[in-house]
Amino acid sequence: MYNIAIVGATGNVGRKILSILEERNFPIKNLYLFASKRSAGKKINFKGVEYVVEETCEENIKSKDLDFALFSAGGDTSLEFAPIFAKNGAVVIDNSSAWRMDPKVPLVVPEVNPEDIKWNNGIIANPNCSTIQAMPVLKAIHDKYGLKRVVYSTYQAVSGAGMQAIQDLEDGMKGIAPKKFPKPIVGNVLPHIDVFLENGYTKEEMKMINETRKILHLDDLKVTATTVRVPVLNSHSESINVELLNSFELEDVVKVLEAAPGVVVYDDVDNLKYPTPLEASDKDDVFVGRIRRDFSIDNGLNLWVVADNIRKGAALNAVQIAELMIKGK
Ligand code: A2P
Repeated sequence: MYNIAIVGATGNVGRKILSILEERNFPIKNLYLFASKRSAGKKINFKGVEYVVEETCEENIKSKDLDFALFSAGGDTSLEFAPIFAKNGAVVIDNSSAWRMDPKVPLVVPEVNPEDIKWNNGIIANPNCSTIQAMPVLKAIHDKYGLKRVVYSTYQAVSGAGMQAIQDLEDGMKGIAPKKFPKPIVGNVLPHIDVFLENGYTKEEMKMINETRKILHLDDLKVTATTVRVPVLNSHSESINVELLNSFELEDVVKVLEAAPGVVVYDDVDNLKYPTPLEASDKDDVFVGRIRRDFSIDNGLNLWVVADNIRKGAALNAVQIAELMIKGK
């Protein structure tokens, strides 16, 4: 049994972590819930017991004997408090982008690179939601055919941008101006996720590019991305165009994907079987459909990948990392 802290317990992902811990019957001895000062004293129910939310501060952390701290409270909170939790003996599993590209911090999708948890120094990073769902699919394809180039185009749900973003979608349907998004999200699509960088890409796009290389251990892989926010409540969709090093038969690709852990092939267009956000929501798996040859290049393949960005893209992946740590103990 383990002592576990959730940092950002009042947030969208924090609450989903709690429900996944309950669903999976995670072996919890003591549970501690942290958020900002604003939420201190609030009560949250877990398995029929009320837990009081505490302010995330050094004093409250040091008074606990913790095995795991699952963070989803934004990058600044992670930067400030993850090292304090780690120093206090907890393994931090962090959902923010703060530590992902730190060479001393493993970036882990349990179905893809479980071995990387071994070299952690107290902090393990959970990848970006849109990166996570592509990984089990691309890993299986890479192992069999070799990846040469990847082109991502995403259609990302508002739930990935937090509570205010969900409110913007609801408000937008009543004609109320958005507070989180820079332009209306209802009746619109925004090719703008996270901030714009000097190279013209958004930070979200660079996360997908850099994190893909780190997780797959392919430092030189050619990857590009366009990430787009769409007026969908939950679950991200991605068009993934890949160029492979070796030739393939389409039916073999399907078999490879059917055998991939965490992946469900949902591909039968005659019967309208292709994954959509509504069908993928509340599911643990990554769904792949529209599997077809890209005739414009040699060894080209097109895929359509959909997953619940709050579950597999965040909360579930974090809990799976904790389970992996326990297995290795
Ligand atoms: P709070 O509810 O007290 O603001 P979301 O992304 O869904 O909006 O959730 C963000 C989560 O991060 C919330 O639980 C929020 O707590 C928490 N959070 C935000 N700022 C801080 C902070 N400075 N210290 C600790 N937790 C924070």
